[in-house]
Amino acid sequence: MHSLAVLLPLFSLALPLVRAQGATCNVTTACPMSAPCCSEFGFCGTTEAFCLGGCNPLYSYSLDSCLPNPVCENAVHTFADNSRILTNASFYDGNASAYDFVVDNGNIMNTNTSGGELVMLLTQENGGTRLSSTRYFHYGTVTARMKTGRWAGIVTAFITMSNVKDEIDWEFPGNETTSGQSNYFWQGVVTTPNHGEVATGLTDTYANYHDYTIDWQQDTLTWLIDGKVVRTVNKADTIVNGVAEYPTTPARFQLSLWPAGTASSAQGTIEWAGGLIDYNDPDYVAAGHFYAFISGVNITCNDPTALTASDTGYVYGPNSTTNTPSVALTNATTNINGAPGLRGLAGTGFQVILAITLAVGVLGQLL
Ligand SMILES: *[C@@H]1O[C@H](CO)[C@@H](O)[C@H](O)[C@H]1NC(C)=O
Ligand SMILES: *[C@@H]1O[C@H](CO)[C@@H](O)[C@H](O)[C@H]1NC(C)=O
Ligand SMILES: *[C@@H]1O[C@H](CO)[C@@H](O)[C@H](O)[C@H]1NC(C)=O
Ligand SMILES: *[C@@H]1O[C@H](CO)[C@@H](O)[C@H](O)[C@H]1NC(C)=O
Ligand SMILES: *[C@@H]1O[C@H](CO)[C@@H](O)[C@H](O)[C@H]1NC(C)=O
Ligand SMILES: *[C@@H]1O[C@H](CO)[C@@H](O)[C@H](O)[C@H]1NC(C)=O
Ligand SMILES: *[C@@H]1O[C@H](CO)[C@@H](O)[C@H](O)[C@H]1NC(C)=O
Ligand SMILES: *[C@@H]1O[C@H](CO)[C@@H](O)[C@H](O)[C@H]1NC(C)=O
Repeated sequence: MHSLAVLLPLFSLALPLVRAQGATCNVTTACPMSAPCCSEFGFCGTTEAFCLGGCNPLYSYSLDSCLPNPVCENAVHTFADNSRILTNASFYDGNASAYDFVVDNGNIMNTNTSGGELVMLLTQENGGTRLSSTRYFHYGTVTARMKTGRWAGIVTAFITMSNVKDEIDWEFPGNETTSGQSNYFWQGVVTTPNHGEVATGLTDTYANYHDYTIDWQQDTLTWLIDGKVVRTVNKADTIVNGVAEYPTTPARFQLSLWPAGTASSAQGTIEWAGGLIDYNDPDYVAAGHFYAFISGVNITCNDPTALTASDTGYVYGPNSTTNTPSVALTNATTNINGAPGLRGLAGTGFQVILAITLAVGVLGQLL
C-alpha cells in the first residue's frame, strides 16, 4: 500500500482561480487559438497561470504556445532569508533571474536560525504548501537537505515535474519517519503496479536533516540519501512496446507539504499517508501549523547540448522517437511581458499575428 501513484500533489494544490477558468484541455482536445495555453491543471488561457510553469505543450494550441521553460543554471540555494522566493505565484512573470522559487500554494516562513531554514507550512485552511523552481533542468543532479513532517496524513515531497508530467519523486508519508519513498512516472501514466520503492533504515527524518538526491541522467536515474545510492533505474529497462517509459523532458523541481489524509482523498491515498490528519495534534495546537524544513537545495545541470550564454529556454518540438517529444534550446524570451511579437501579445494576439504574417508571406509569393 505504500507509494501509491502520486500525481496528487498537483491536483490537491490546484489553485481555485485557475481551476475555475476556461475550456478544459486534455489528450483528445487541445486549447483553441483564442486561449492557446493548457495549464498544469488542464484549463486553457492566455495569462501567466496558463502559459508559464506547468503549461503543457502537447495539449496547447500548438507546440510553441507555452512560453519557453527557463534553462538550467548550476546553483547552491540556501535560505538565509526568503528573498529569492516569490510568495505569490500570480505575480510571477517568467523572469527566472528575479526569483529561484515561487510559492504556488500555501505559506512559508524562515526560522532565521542555523544560517536560515525555509519552512513550509500546512494549516487546516491553506491546503498545504508547494514551491516550484523557476528554472527547469534537462538532466542533472538535484539534492534537497530536508527535515520531513511527522504527522499522519501529511506528506512531505521533493520531486521533479515536467510540463508533460514526467515526474521523479522523493516522498515521505508523515507517520513514517525512518524511510523515504522513491518513484517515477513517464508522461503522467500511472502503471500497475507503480514504480514506487521504499528506502528504509534512516535516522528520524523529522528530527534530522538528510540529503535527498535525484540524479537524473539520459540513461540512468539514481536516488541517493546522504550521498549513498539507494536505487537505480536504467532507461534500457523501462522499454514497453518499443517506447522507453522514462522521463526525458525538462523539469522543475518542487518542494511540498500536502494534505493527503483528508476526507476528500481516495481511500488508498489516505491509508498510504497514514490516516486522516489530526488537527488536534499537540504540535499543531502549539505551533498553529504543521511544517517541514529545508536548509538547502543544490542543482548541477547536465544538458544533452551544452548551454551557451544566449540560450534562455527549452522548447518542445515534434516527437523525436515514438511518443517522445523532442526538446530544443531557444533564445526567445521566457517572460510573459517579453518583447512584443513574442508573448507580449499573449495568446490570441501572437497566434493571429503569426497567422497574418504567414498569410501575407504566401500572398506576397502569389502576387
Ligand atoms: C477533454 O476536453 C474536452 C473539451 O473541453 C471535453 O469535452 C472532454 O470531456 C475532455 N475529456 C476528458 C477525458 O476529460
Ligand atoms: C525571519 O526573517 C524573516 C525574513 O526572512 C522575517 O520576516 C521574520 O520576521 C524573521 N523571523 C524572526 C522570528 O525573526
Ligand atoms: C496573490 O495575489 C493576488 C492578486 O493580488 C490575490 O488575489 C491573491 O489573493 C494573492 N494570493 C495569496 C495567497 O496571497
Ligand atoms: C529579470 O530580473 C532581473 C533581476 O531582478 C533583472 O535585472 C532583469 O532586468 C529582469 N529582466 C526582465 C526582462 O524583466
Ligand atoms: C551544496 O553544495 C555546497 C557547496 O559544495 C555544500 O557545502 C552543501 O553541503 C551542499 N548542500 C546540499 C543540500 O547538497
Ligand atoms: C503508517 O501508516 C501506514 C498506512 O496506514 C501503516 O501501514 C504503517 O504501519 C504506519 N506506520 C507507523 C510507523 O505507524
Ligand atoms: C507524440 O508523442 C505524444 C506523447 O508524448 C503522443 O501523444 C502524440 O500522439 C505523438 N505525436 C505523433 C504525431 O506521433
Ligand atoms: C537568436 O536565435 C536566432 C536564430 O534562431 C538568431 O538569428 C539570433 O541572432 C539569436 N539572437 C541572439 C541574441 O543570440
